[in-house]
Amino acid sequence: SAQNTTVTIHANQGKNKINKEIYGQFAEHLGSCIYGGLWVGPQSNIPNTDGYRNDVLKALIDLKVPVLRWPGGCFADEYHWMDGIGPRNKRPKMQNNNWGGTIEDNSFGTHEFLNLCEKIGAEPYISGNVGSGSVEELAKWVEYMTSDGDTPMANLRRKNGREKSWNVKYLGVGNESWGCGGNMRPEYYSDLFRRYSTYCRNYDSHKLYKIASGASDYDYDWTKVLMNNVGNRMNGLSLHYYTVTGWNGSKGSATKFSNDDYYWTLGKCLEIEDVIKKHSAIMDEKDPKQHIGLLVDEWGTWWDEEPGTIKGHLFQQNTMRDAFVAALSLNVFHRHSDRVRMANIAQIANVLQSMILTDTTGNGHMVLTPTYHVFRMYQPFQDATYLPLDIKCDSMKVRDNRTIPIVSASAAKTKDGNMVISLANVSLDKAQNIDIDIENAGIKSINGEILTSKNISDYNDFNNPDVVKPTPFKDVKIKRNTIKVKIPAKSIVVLNIK
Ligand code: AHR
Repeated sequence: SAQNTTVTIHANQGKNKINKEIYGQFAEHLGSCIYGGLWVGPQSNIPNTDGYRNDVLKALIDLKVPVLRWPGGCFADEYHWMDGIGPRNKRPKMQNNNWGGTIEDNSFGTHEFLNLCEKIGAEPYISGNVGSGSVEELAKWVEYMTSDGDTPMANLRRKNGREKSWNVKYLGVGNESWGCGGNMRPEYYSDLFRRYSTYCRNYDSHKLYKIASGASDYDYDWTKVLMNNVGNRMNGLSLHYYTVTGWNGSKGSATKFSNDDYYWTLGKCLEIEDVIKKHSAIMDEKDPKQHIGLLVDEWGTWWDEEPGTIKGHLFQQNTMRDAFVAALSLNVFHRHSDRVRMANIAQIANVLQSMILTDTTGNGHMVLTPTYHVFRMYQPFQDATYLPLDIKCDSMKVRDNRTIPIVSASAAKTKDGNMVISLANVSLDKAQNIDIDIENAGIKSINGEILTSKNISDYNDFNNPDVVKPTPFKDVKIKRNTIKVKIPAKSIVVLNIK
């Protein structure tokens, strides 16, 4: 059976840019995100370029990753960057206390990270150690990466083989400082931010964009105190929001779930919109002109680890359900692109809601997840102008007293002057007949792609890497200023309109 939906796009009311950084990624020293995911080392049998996996490099270049956050997460506040420079065989080891007690050999450090960013064309986002580091350590790290003068740290960098400074703009001053980043109170952290950031200097032509460690979920007090006590000293304030059942006990399986669980997931995912609105309203009081960005620098689904994988490594599968979380969340970020300037899904490979899963046992397989495909399909939204829209569709009540719309949509004017529209039909059993009315359309041609699968719990693995993948979408008719599409149950469609 089918339902009817109407979408009206206000094509002349575009105002806000959807920063491409909303399509940002996050890579932490956690499980096999770095080691075995991005990096295998130059000696590996797995085909690589200077130690980076070739298959992963290609997938990330294709994905057009705008920004990559590193080295954590919780790991960042225990990371001492000087352990990760110089000859690899001389670097000291450490224990990764946050993530399974794994021994970290520091073979992937500052050079390896920043060179990777250059290779894939991403802006680096460095997350600095405030929890267990010092002001001096962070100040010197900034000097090491960005100074081109005859300065001690720039000379050390040159000695380690890199003549020119790297382009580093985004600097996180601590991570989850209310929790794994030092268990601080917001007043104390505010003072630390002021102190640490004072000594993180702008070298030569570099200009840092300083990001304060922000709230998790519904902690509005944290935002209020930081806005009062830090204010314009920060360029950005972060926010973490995971689609997770809770922090105690099982979080549920990534692949075995009921229909009820599925709809609950979408309700929890969409609640981020209310959370963004509330944090933004607090920010508006002190910063009505919206100079300070809200950066959702960790988001995505968090399920139980796959049975048989290492505890604390957060390796989870990724199904069509996760693809919906990606599509719906990105649509929310678009709607709030006036304040939300960056978002970094957790994480890029092998951890939580990742883009890529690699077989770390040595035979070199890699799969692209359904979430990767959503990010790839949504590419035209990067740096496009957001177009407001109205949508009339069915909605349903889901567990925990939430209501979700059956169709989620987003539209934008792309950099090259075309239009892009995303449509997600979350219904498990009903197709949607959608009329899309566009003011002053003048439509010439439409190209579409669809991501769907037989079962909502379908996923890609090393034996079956293409169970969920995009295909061309053809069910489109144009009638003057109206586009008529029929999209099947549980499907995500992106239309590129000329
Ligand atoms: O992404 C995994 C962890 O989640 C990060 O290290 C931390 O910042 C958050 O709690």
